[in-house]
Amino acid sequence: MNAISSFVQARPLDGILTLARSLSGHHDDPRRDAKAERNATGAHVQIEGLQHRYKGAAANCLDKLEFKVTPGQIVALVGRSGCGKSTLLHLIGGLMQPSAGGVYIDGNRVKSACPRWVVMFQAPSLFPWMTVAQNAALGLRFAGRKAEIAKRIPPLLELVGLTAFADRNVQDLSGGQQQRVALARSLATQPELLLLDEPFSALDAFTRRALQQDVRRIAKELGLTVVLVTHDITEAAIMADRALVMAPDPGRIVTDTLLDPGPERHRDNPQFEAERARLATLFEATA
Ligand SMILES: Nc1ncnc2c1ncn2[C@@H]1O[C@H](COP(=O)(O)OP(=O)(O)OP(=O)(O)O)[C@@H](O)[C@H]1O
Ligand SMILES: [Mg+2]
Repeated sequence: MNAISSFVQARPLDGILTLARSLSGHHDDPRRDAKAERNATGAHVQIEGLQHRYKGAAANCLDKLEFKVTPGQIVALVGRSGCGKSTLLHLIGGLMQPSAGGVYIDGNRVKSACPRWVVMFQAPSLFPWMTVAQNAALGLRFAGRKAEIAKRIPPLLELVGLTAFADRNVQDLSGGQQQRVALARSLATQPELLLLDEPFSALDAFTRRALQQDVRRIAKELGLTVVLVTHDITEAAIMADRALVMAPDPGRIVTDTLLDPGPERHRDNPQFEAERARLATLFEATA
């Protein structure tokens, strides 16, 4: 059993319930339909005075966060374990409500999960008994948009490089291929915002690098806004246009920096390597 299938087996319901929750509402929103027809562009995200304290906790886990993400921008949230990255991502996605302040997407306060913004986790949470195409179509099915499946799924499988695997059972796929199915499923509902919580950390280094490049390319092709949580500085430098470095106790943003690694985002490019090293220094300064 590979790393991804063991994750799927370990926590199959988590991701599936979150997916169902995020896809169940709002499909009657006329603004979404209008935007979908115009080839969706990325969302504008605004975080205003955001604070969060978990029930029973003595102190805030996040404190007075303020930032904006412009449409189409890819932002990496980097920081050490426990500084509040996942909490922040879940608040942005409407999976939880903040203790104070708010998240605004395209000017509207986020009150719940919605198919216009999708969260992808480390485990792809696929249905193991279904084919690649059926899993990719799940989001549309949950959102009551079955009529779109025939039109949307084949081009999406092509985009993520899985056309030849459409009728294969997902259990027969590698971890990287399974994460590509989850990506196709996330993209099928034409989200404006992709929220990624360490989505590649269970994969081997080679597969991880390939997916990092591909997800950046796909997000740029579709004009999606992306917020990516990662511990991996190289991943942030490969994927992001901008990095927010977080520090703990309470979780806060200590550095907000644009990344300019040049057009070739790999370690053989000296400009990339210099930018990666700059980000690593900023990250280490939070220790
Ligand atoms: N459900 C919860 N109830 C109470 N405290 C929580 C809960 N979830 C997270 N925390 C606490 O909030 C803080 C931030 O957690 P969070 O999971 O957001 O961190 P993170 O930066 O994503 O960490 P990691 O890199 O390990 O995933 C931690 O101190 C954690 O213990
Ligand atoms: Mg986390």
